[in-house]
Amino acid sequence: LSALHQRSLLRETDLSVDELRALLDLAADLKAAKREGREERRLVGRNIALIFEKTSTRTRCAFEVAAADQGASTTYLDPSGSQIGHKESAKDTARVLGRFYDGIEYRGTRQDVVETLAAHAGVPVWNGLTDDWHPTQSLCDALTMREHAGKPDTEIAYAYVGDARFNVGNSLLVTGAMLGMDVRIVAPRSLWPTDAVVAVARRYAAETGARVTLTDEVADGVRGVDFVHTDVWVSMGEPKEVWAERIELLGPYQVNADLLALSGNPRVKFMHCLPAFHDLETQVGQDVHDQFGLAELEVTDDVFESEASIVFDQAENRMHTIKALIVATMARL
Ligand code: CP
Ligand code: NVA
Repeated sequence: LSALHQRSLLRETDLSVDELRALLDLAADLKAAKREGREERRLVGRNIALIFEKTSTRTRCAFEVAAADQGASTTYLDPSGSQIGHKESAKDTARVLGRFYDGIEYRGTRQDVVETLAAHAGVPVWNGLTDDWHPTQSLCDALTMREHAGKPDTEIAYAYVGDARFNVGNSLLVTGAMLGMDVRIVAPRSLWPTDAVVAVARRYAAETGARVTLTDEVADGVRGVDFVHTDVWVSMGEPKEVWAERIELLGPYQVNADLLALSGNPRVKFMHCLPAFHDLETQVGQDVHDQFGLAELEVTDDVFESEASIVFDQAENRMHTIKALIVATMARL
């Protein structure tokens, strides 16, 4: 892990397979240490900038709590609270914040912006979500699957069902391939990851023994899996005009009790990066209901609230895995 010192995480492939495994082990250690009241503070006196050009609950709070637990301070820059992208370029922002801070988290739209920040900041930069990748989410997803599967990574099978050409789908595809898992992308063809992303996953699979499957057949895709993942059907930054088309395309891919039963695995678990659309308790939910008459989308409320759902264990792990990331890249281990 000492090799991660001062490195950035912009996408999963910035890590070697061994580094990814070691980071997950560190997250598990840090989680146990916190629970047992024996956490060591390795980031005392460090300062972290959190740039959010899109909103967040989990990622922001995970960084803030992880930093506080480790003795570091954070500055939160909200989507309207800094000059980045409006009055100042990413390159200039990077050179300024790099003088103040020891690490920078960035959430936004374009992958090239987080790459520019990393190229010019002189300190580690962590991708807190772009349209292309969500690496702090996939770290969390991998840790959560490890905990719940109780078997080696190479024996874990999961399906990502839904819109697979965006951040969470891409990250889950590549991460599973890196860890030697049996990864299935289950989606209509028009929502599959790009050929370039699939090629990256296949390259890892050749090295790690992972199985990589893309299919538009739900029953084939979920057969025998340990975990079914999904994500929202319309992501942050997409225009509301795409709702009608997505609902049409993804209707057959809703994660409901019937879909889980197709796994044939009575112990199959449901995972979702969150936020999820499974009831009418949100403004978006109300709007979609008014327009399309639907009360649930990518997952039904009964699945979300069922014993199979481990979404809050998963959400908790955002904090432990982000802590591992900031410790590994900022502290001397
Ligand atoms: N899963 C996730 O990234 O959640 P937030 O958008 O709340 O950070
Ligand atoms: N795909 C979603 C993930 C949210 C954590 C989005 O980009 O909005």
